[in-house]
Amino acid sequence: MAVDDLSKLVSLCKRRGFVFQSSEIYGGINSCWDYGPLGVELKRNIKDLWWKEMTCRSDIVGIDSSILMHPRVWEASGHVENFTDPLVDCKKCRQRFREDAIDEKGKCPACGGELTDARSFNLMFKTFMGPVEDAASTVFLRPETAQGIYVNFLNVQTTMRMRVPFGIAQIGKAFRNEITPGNFIFRTREFEQMEMQFFVKPGEDDKWMEYWMNTRMDFYRRHGITEGKLRFHQHGEGELAHYAKVAYDIQYEFPIGWQEFEGIHNRTDFDLKRHMEYSGKNLNYTDEISGEKYIPYIIETSAGCDRFLLVSLVDSYWEDTENERIVMKFHKDLAPVKLAILPLMKKEPLVAYAKEIYDNVYNETDFNMQIDFTGSIGKRYRRQDEIGTPYCVTIDFESLEDKKVTVRDRDLMTQERIPVESLVKYLKDNFRNQN
Ligand code: GAP
Repeated sequence: MAVDDLSKLVSLCKRRGFVFQSSEIYGGINSCWDYGPLGVELKRNIKDLWWKEMTCRSDIVGIDSSILMHPRVWEASGHVENFTDPLVDCKKCRQRFREDAIDEKGKCPACGGELTDARSFNLMFKTFMGPVEDAASTVFLRPETAQGIYVNFLNVQTTMRMRVPFGIAQIGKAFRNEITPGNFIFRTREFEQMEMQFFVKPGEDDKWMEYWMNTRMDFYRRHGITEGKLRFHQHGEGELAHYAKVAYDIQYEFPIGWQEFEGIHNRTDFDLKRHMEYSGKNLNYTDEISGEKYIPYIIETSAGCDRFLLVSLVDSYWEDTENERIVMKFHKDLAPVKLAILPLMKKEPLVAYAKEIYDNVYNETDFNMQIDFTGSIGKRYRRQDEIGTPYCVTIDFESLEDKKVTVRDRDLMTQERIPVESLVKYLKDNFRNQN
């Protein structure tokens, strides 16, 4: 049975060390979450996969720009003026809501009280640069990583001698003072984005939009996300962001319904033009072979790292009632722990032999591994199933004699006895062959 309720995942995440509530010992802080030892491995795997996918090709390079930027950036980008949600207050209970998320207009969803007229609420977090807290020292925490790429467009293009079409990729934190965060890590005020901005010749934008839509959807399919739970959603007139000519979301069918976890946008030359206007710097691109001069159009792929992490948790969760276990069927590249070494008993020389095997696999692979001595073997398998470890290697007393170990497969629950000397090759072959 798949997960039908996010609370089941929240509790598994806490129980097994994936995600904890932030500042929990103080009662927590709304919408902030901490990644525990397994969550951080899962997140790192997600970022590594995305980074390799983007930058292990000759037409995309990466950067890491700062979170705090010149305040004029956010005027140029349109965020000061347009990055707002309509906010209403309840006159009775004083709670605040996004007007567009209220079913019965005019009535408070919490107490039925009368609501104020909507006013625009800017979602950018503000802070002060330096010791003086005045308007002149106000800066913003970036609400998207994209702008750090746009302002470095010429730096990157000239230093790396990139020719259009080319892309710049970045992974980093973004901040939005969401009015209604919630649903675990789905909507938070601090989150991580994995964004790639692809600069193309005007007129070739539609072709590249299609290319990136297909490539991004294919990425999720290749990493094991259930085909029937993925779809595109095209933004209608009212949904389009201020910078976008065309926009598609990649949506997943969460227990809370179909929701976006990546956006693919044709941002035209909006951003570069605005930065030219506001900075007074020439951001025209000159093609060194054809001599053509133009402001490139931008196709953006913008994935939420935390949202994809939630997708991978939801998509992996499986209640195997027949075998009385919960299994996280992570794609092997995403699995936070790749292998568990389980000596049948906590007795010498079994333990020493298990440690020797652990060290050997560790030296020959880059696997994150666990070695677990405690509890019955059945309980240890269940524990590994629940954190999604693809393989367990069991070492018994016979192993000391015949130098063979038992490899147990997480999904099939099959057990295969193989010579210990071929263990590393067996694992490498199986990790290469995902299906
Ligand atoms: N640069 C374009 C941009 O930021 P977006 O559709 O606003 O576009 C892109 O955001 C992705 O960032 C979303 O698809 C989502 O995965 C993630 N995201 C946005 N707001 C978020 C939030 N409050 N919490 C978690 N993830 C968020």
